[in-house]
Amino acid sequence: MASTANQIIHCKGKPLVIEEVVVAPPQAMEVRIKILYTALCHTDVYFWEAKGQSPLFPRIFGHEAGGIVESVGEGVTELKPGDHVLPIFTGECRACAHCKSEQSNMCELLRINTERGVMIEDGKSRFSIKGQPIYHFLGTSTFSEYTVVHSGCVAKINPSAPLDTVFVLSCGFCTGFGATVNVAKPPKGSTVAVFGLGAVGLAAAEGARFSGASRIIGVDVNPNKFEQAKKFGVTEFVNPKDHNKPVQEVLVEMTNGGVDRSIECTGNVQAMISAFESVHDGWGVAVLVGVPSKDDVFKTHPLNFLTERTLKGTFYGNFKPRTDIPLVVEKYMNKEIELEKFITHSVPFSEINTAFDLMLKGEGIRCLIRMKE
Ligand SMILES: NC(=O)c1ccc[n+]([C@@H]2O[C@H](COP(=O)([O-])OP(=O)(O)OC[C@H]3O[C@@H](n4cnc5c(N)ncnc54)[C@H](O)[C@@H]3O)[C@@H](O)[C@H]2O)c1
Ligand SMILES: [Zn+2]
Ligand SMILES: [Zn+2]
Repeated sequence: MASTANQIIHCKGKPLVIEEVVVAPPQAMEVRIKILYTALCHTDVYFWEAKGQSPLFPRIFGHEAGGIVESVGEGVTELKPGDHVLPIFTGECRACAHCKSEQSNMCELLRINTERGVMIEDGKSRFSIKGQPIYHFLGTSTFSEYTVVHSGCVAKINPSAPLDTVFVLSCGFCTGFGATVNVAKPPKGSTVAVFGLGAVGLAAAEGARFSGASRIIGVDVNPNKFEQAKKFGVTEFVNPKDHNKPVQEVLVEMTNGGVDRSIECTGNVQAMISAFESVHDGWGVAVLVGVPSKDDVFKTHPLNFLTERTLKGTFYGNFKPRTDIPLVVEKYMNKEIELEKFITHSVPFSEINTAFDLMLKGEGIRCLIRMKE
């Protein structure tokens, strides 16, 4: 069905290429979505580079997006054609122990799976070129005019919300913001360190500001990130490259014993260790958000735990996609959170490689990719 032009697949090691693919109709509990806006998140880049990650090609990347339901498969009752939706890389079945727990968003059935390239219903892909399957990525594959997603991985949102802005809630913003407000939970007046000032880290900083943190220290190896981070409430900056001692020592000195909370949003395992070792003993909490390489090992002395520091991690900021995301959209509609400042560039789909170049060079925050034009 719906053979659509301008679809994208990727061939390892090369810039993305745009190809025409066939998108099969949604099967039981699935929906087919017309993607209107999407963007690149660093997770797409890691799996495209396939350096420290499992390669699975050819596949269609993309997981931060907004679109409109085109059709629904058997058994889908909560979504209908025309609904405005955000596809989410981790799902919510509402039946498993995780979905029933207030503490977890790690749905047994639909949790993030970076290795799977097929739909769970029948173990097959919904994309093909001349009968050859093209794999899915994170169950979302939004770098396509149409995609098929499990209905449990779809947040139905207020149709008056601008999709070209709220699409950032489908990964970057909610991941960072939730890591702070849902997981780190800084008390008012806290000092919070954010490692990595990309979209995810800046959203974590936004969460710190929202929670009433009094000092927000941004840590990044790219000094170009500091100027734009000021707009996100970051009050101080540390570039690990400017110091000849580990950055955790610099932070401990700056804060008289350590930060109250730290949020790691880099994907670099050394930064993860530094983020943990920079929290204050007695009460400090560090939250890992960055996606590590397959073989990374986190090493720290056990005394760092015995002295009452806590280390946590989170996918998607602990938000439950179907239950929580419509409410985060309302927070944007009520002007409690700002999203426009995350979108620094905009290109048509045909120029998607520009978005890759910007991310690889560390320029801007999110580059909106428009599927029309
Ligand atoms: N846990 C989740 O649910 C989830 C969701 C989305 C993204 N992520 C991960 O979050 C991370 C950030 O994503 P993004 O899209 O904001 O990426 P980004 O590339 O826009 O930002 C990453 C920033 O980290 C900085 N950085 C890299 N190494 C560093 C180091 N050693 N010390 C300090 N700063 C360093 C870079 O200069 C860059 O500014 C990635 O690892 C991504 O895979 C996780
Ligand atoms: Zn992402
Ligand atoms: Zn579940």
